[in-house]
Amino acid sequence: MASIFIKHVLVFLVAISATSWMVQASDPDILSDFILPSNLNGVNGSFFTFTGMRGIFNQPPPTFKVTKASLAEFPALNGQSVSLAVLQYPAGGVNPPHTHPRAAELLFVVEGSLEVGFVDTTNKLYTQTLQLGDIFVFPKGLVHYQYNANATEPTTAISAFGSASAGTASLPTTLFATGIEDDILAKSFKTDVATIQKLKAGLAPPKA
Ligand SMILES: *[C@@H]1O[C@H](CO)[C@@H](O)[C@H](O)[C@H]1NC(C)=O
Ligand SMILES: *[C@@H]1O[C@H](CO)[C@@H](O)[C@H](O)[C@H]1NC(C)=O
Repeated sequence: MASIFIKHVLVFLVAISATSWMVQASDPDILSDFILPSNLNGVNGSFFTFTGMRGIFNQPPPTFKVTKASLAEFPALNGQSVSLAVLQYPAGGVNPPHTHPRAAELLFVVEGSLEVGFVDTTNKLYTQTLQLGDIFVFPKGLVHYQYNANATEPTTAISAFGSASAGTASLPTTLFATGIEDDILAKSFKTDVATIQKLKAGLAPPKA
């Protein structure tokens, strides 16, 4: 009798924790079809249209370039749990190691080829060479990178995110361009201050 009761309680607790895990695994649900900015009281189809990608394919960029359609650029995404980015790599271009704390990333190669990799929380590295048409998923929050190893051809990829605001923490910037003291970094990386200053010198301060 008692053991059946305990079993029910355990099942209930597992169900509760599974539910709260699911809620935390995506953006919060909204209680309306969509969310309008407070300065607008009526919208038409233009509100749901993002035109910021127009023209980005005309001129291949000289260095790695990301163009985002996330909550910050496209307010209609508020509450919709999706966003997108276009990633353009010149020959030899790299997107340095970074994480998206709030979403998994689904990357689709639409031009060229791409070396990709991510590291899980046991420090195991997973790599792949993607060909035109391949799709790769970077699990939520894990450190990952992309590199166009082709010496002559550019690569283009489109990434979808399971959050309107996936967030990006770039490791080089986070570590060496935010003002963390040289001696703390030198101790952390088991090196000297001169080496840390050299690393810092090559990185522009973050934009935001
Ligand atoms: C939709 O709204 C925008 C601004 O809110 C306006 O400029 C545009 O003319 C409208 N389009 C139509 C078809 O009504
Ligand atoms: C670079 O891309 C071109 C065109 O797709 C291809 O012919 C060539 O084999 C690629 N080079 C490497 C090193 O993958």
